[in-house]
Amino acid sequence: MLEAPRVPASPHPMVPQPWCVRRSWWETEDTFSFSMEPHHGSPTFQFSPGQFNMLYVFGVGEIPISISGDQAKGETLVHTVRAVGATTRAIGSLQPGAQLGVRGPFGSSWPVRQAMGKDLVIVAGGIGLAPLRPVVYEVLASRPKFGRVCLLYGTRTPDDILYTKELQKWSKGADLQTLVTVDRAGQDWTGNVGVVTTLIAKAEFDPDHASAMVCGPEVMMRFTIRELEKLGMRSDNIHISMERNMKCAVGFCGHCQFGPTFICKDGPIFRYDRIRHLLAIREM
Ligand SMILES: Cc1cc2nc3c(=O)[nH]c(=O)nc-3n(C[C@H](O)[C@H](O)[C@H](O)COP(=O)(O)OP(=O)(O)OC[C@H]3O[C@@H](n4cnc5c(N)ncnc54)[C@H](O)[C@@H]3O)c2cc1C
Ligand code: FES
Repeated sequence: MLEAPRVPASPHPMVPQPWCVRRSWWETEDTFSFSMEPHHGSPTFQFSPGQFNMLYVFGVGEIPISISGDQAKGETLVHTVRAVGATTRAIGSLQPGAQLGVRGPFGSSWPVRQAMGKDLVIVAGGIGLAPLRPVVYEVLASRPKFGRVCLLYGTRTPDDILYTKELQKWSKGADLQTLVTVDRAGQDWTGNVGVVTTLIAKAEFDPDHASAMVCGPEVMMRFTIRELEKLGMRSDNIHISMERNMKCAVGFCGHCQFGPTFICKDGPIFRYDRIRHLLAIREM
């Protein structure tokens, strides 16, 4: 289903559509996932991996959040949110049946189809796994079309690991080399300790015939790219996700603009060689 037509949920990109919370669950102490269904049975929601929605909590605020669910299950919409401020906390406190406004999907997507026929290395840091999880779902749905696929995931501590059951399932199967590391851990942790770049040496892929998709804090992405380039990976085979403050999400307001580039509509997923200069610029 890689080339399915992408039908926007909103008839107009600036008009939020009502969706209802179906279920909400905590992934870690500060991060939750929740599923939603259309309030009045709107058409199935279609998106591409890496795209985001603008979620509007009535009377509180509207924020960009990546879609973390499975495109094949278009009747529900899943997001994963770290509760850091007013709007994210308000979303976390919504009960089943509560309404949210949804605009989207917006932005560019991970080039899953272009990665077919080659090895694929997916590198995620912290909540950066959320916009990459739909890539994993699509890859697993068309697994024979890819070479070796590895998922490298790093968090601060074992308690910060998202999607633990899925990671365990993926690591037991042969379809995906799944490697997890944490920055620091107690004695009960028997897994890898160290930053996510330490996993690159253990990952099985051919840098000359591989694509990389990288998402996480910018410092993590910079070091990951450096290591991938040291192995000989070309910068046009590396894609990253940029996050910047957003308001309109459609290129009107200029909030996310860097020169001629709008992160909301030209990104958030960029080919690294085209965005290298922006990664060096801190958010204004
Ligand atoms: C394209 C895109 C996709 C995103 N996807 C996700 C996602 O899947 N899950 C998720 O939890 N968050 C995601 N974010 C970040 C999310 O939008 C912010 O955490 C949110 O806007 C914070 O809103 P708030 O009202 O709760 O907090 P605020 O009160 O606005 O901010 C609380 C703290 O978070 C910081 N902050 C606010 N916005 C951002 C941002 N964009 N990036 C980093 N720090 C920020 C603020 O500086 C402040 O320190 C995404 C952002 C973008 C641009
Ligand atoms: S958020 Fe308005 S131009 Fe990008």
